[in-house]
Amino acid sequence: MRTQVAIIGAGPAGLLLGALLHKQGIDHVILERQTPDYVLGRIRAGVLEQVAVDLLDEAGVGARMHREGLPHDGFSLAFDGRHHRIDLHGLTGKRVMVYGQTEVTRDLMDARHAAGLTTVYEAEQVSLHGFDGTRPQVRYRHAGEDATLEADFIVGCDGFHGVARASVPPSAIQNFEKVYPFGWLGVLADVPPVHEELIYANHSRGFALCSMRSKTRVRYYVQCSLDDHVEDWSDARFFAELKRRLPEADAARLVEGPSIEKSIAPLRSFVVEPMRFGRLFLAGDAAHIVPPTGAKGLNLAASDVGLLGRALAEHYRGSDTGIDTYSQRALSRVWKAERFSWWFTTLMHRFPETGDFGRRMQQAELDYLVNSEAAMTAMAENYVGLSLD
Ligand code: FAD
Ligand code: PHB
Repeated sequence: MRTQVAIIGAGPAGLLLGALLHKQGIDHVILERQTPDYVLGRIRAGVLEQVAVDLLDEAGVGARMHREGLPHDGFSLAFDGRHHRIDLHGLTGKRVMVYGQTEVTRDLMDARHAAGLTTVYEAEQVSLHGFDGTRPQVRYRHAGEDATLEADFIVGCDGFHGVARASVPPSAIQNFEKVYPFGWLGVLADVPPVHEELIYANHSRGFALCSMRSKTRVRYYVQCSLDDHVEDWSDARFFAELKRRLPEADAARLVEGPSIEKSIAPLRSFVVEPMRFGRLFLAGDAAHIVPPTGAKGLNLAASDVGLLGRALAEHYRGSDTGIDTYSQRALSRVWKAERFSWWFTTLMHRFPETGDFGRRMQQAELDYLVNSEAAMTAMAENYVGLSLD
């Protein structure tokens, strides 16, 4: 099989890149290790920046998002038993869209299916060859048969544990990493949200977040220990812990319900440099991970493929400027989102080493933040997302 662009991974990055390339008339194939149901079953991000919304529109898959998504003009920071609203729209003129990664993925899959584009699910033993030369190849096994896909370019959209980054010689790559000493325990439940906007809570027992997927479905999180097991967290224990970390008025209003999904995610900051190796590009979680506090993971995946889609389109029109500057332009945005996610994580969580002094530093910073329009504007500007160019 031969194509122009071989994409590895059918998560949001791979699917969105496929949709953007299709709009430009660029032929491509996506190889995915899992089944479609497995990909849709992963409960992950929930907040889209304007840049991601615009790219989904550009890809022609934004209709349901605009119908069913919830535009949010602000969010709350809760600490010391009180709420402080960050007026995203008032401070920046921009808003965010609450629309789950599962729905984004479903819309992209449906559009792909309708357009008759090729996705090879359950592709096993994917391996990358020749990307340092002019004729890259991806080899894999599918339905018991060996197959080879020849392409002009390979794009690794295969997430943090994927094969693309691992195929680059260690001498050509530099990794930057910070692992946090806690995780997030998340619960999905069909109950009305406790508040019309998201609440990020800093509490001496640890961080908590009240998010949502719709007006009838919530996604709530509490900071947990890395040694915790989901089985030890009954729904009753989860809700009791969440309520302890919220201001009293919210705790009193919060509606509990049986969990539909419950999982623990570790928190990590990670960046690889560069994001291009000859005819191989990395995009999304394959190249970088942020802790979820800033809601940046999915948005960065979208902005990477936004840049890369344009760069590849320019290449086929005769200019290599876009592909030659992709790594540097993507990394400049990635590092700013890394900084914001690391800062917001540090501000809101209880660290084992925080101690009394560290706790006072968090309190002073939060107090300063909610009383300074300059500080709130800086936070809002980062939360709604920096522009793509
Ligand atoms: P992925 O979604 O990881 O997709 C990669 C795809 O590649 C997968 O489908 C995988 O099966 C496939 N693949 C992997 N290896 C191979 C291989 N060898 N061959 C073929 N295919 C392969 N972000 C937020 O903003 N908010 C959140 O609350 C949040 N929660 C998260 C919770 C968890 C547990 C995780 C892991 C991430 C979370 N994120 C969150 C981050 C966000 O979901 C990711 O940034 C986003 O999924 C990145 O998309 P991606 O397409 O780059 O990677
Ligand atoms: C979510 O809804 O899953 C979510 C929202 C905001 C975040 C992280 C996760 O910062």
